[in-house]
Amino acid sequence: MQVPLLDLRAQYSPLKAEILEAVSELCDSQRFILGPKVEAFEQELAAYCQSGGAVGVTSGSDALLIALMAEKIQPGDEIIIPEPCFVAYPALATMCGAKVVTVQTRKEDSFKLTPEQLKAAITPKTKLLLLSYPSNPTGGVLNEDTYNALCDIARDKGITILADEVYEPFVYEGKELCFFYPEDRNACAKWSMLWDIQRERVMQIEKLRSARRDLEKAESELLSAKQ
Ligand SMILES: Cc1ncc(COP(=O)(O)O)c(C=O)c1O
Repeated sequence: MQVPLLDLRAQYSPLKAEILEAVSELCDSQRFILGPKVEAFEQELAAYCQSGGAVGVTSGSDALLIALMAEKIQPGDEIIIPEPCFVAYPALATMCGAKVVTVQTRKEDSFKLTPEQLKAAITPKTKLLLLSYPSNPTGGVLNEDTYNALCDIARDKGITILADEVYEPFVYEGKELCFFYPEDRNACAKWSMLWDIQRERVMQIEKLRSARRDLEKAESELLSAKQ
């Protein structure tokens, strides 16, 4: 039997009618950017995540960048990134002026960050731990003990864990944990959406999103004026 590498039809067909109806309504409304549909989606997602709010942004990378900006990273602040990591992480951290502190995970630990490694990497300048679970590229997921130990260290040292859980739906058997669920989570970025448990931080992120939009609008006006 041949198993296709990718079969989006299987996903699409049961949802087809719903998707086409939503797309058609959106086109009729002509409210493509941050309109009522995005607002409704944000509310539904916030409720699903039991979060203080959800903020729609353009892409997963944008969500991460805005989350980092909301942490008010200053030049010289350190961001710990376990390797191997998603290819954009070091660049996103550097864009915010942070110094990237790489922690090389080991095969014998299934390429997962250990609490000992996290402790050893923390300095007085550490602001944040950035990690993806389930991990891209290793597929590694945390077990409960490691999860709790990492949260304890982060809480104790006052650092934020930015958990990029774009692949959270791929956690099987319900045994492994994502930062997304428990109350301990600090901030999570997932799909093209960014959410956060603290209402205050959500408001900051909303402001950053508007600022980026204003900047993009100004750039496009400038470009059209040049033509
Ligand atoms: C772990 C992880 N985070 C973030 C992203 C970025 O998402 P986007 O392509 O929407 O910018 C990806 C994309 O592959 C990813 O694998």
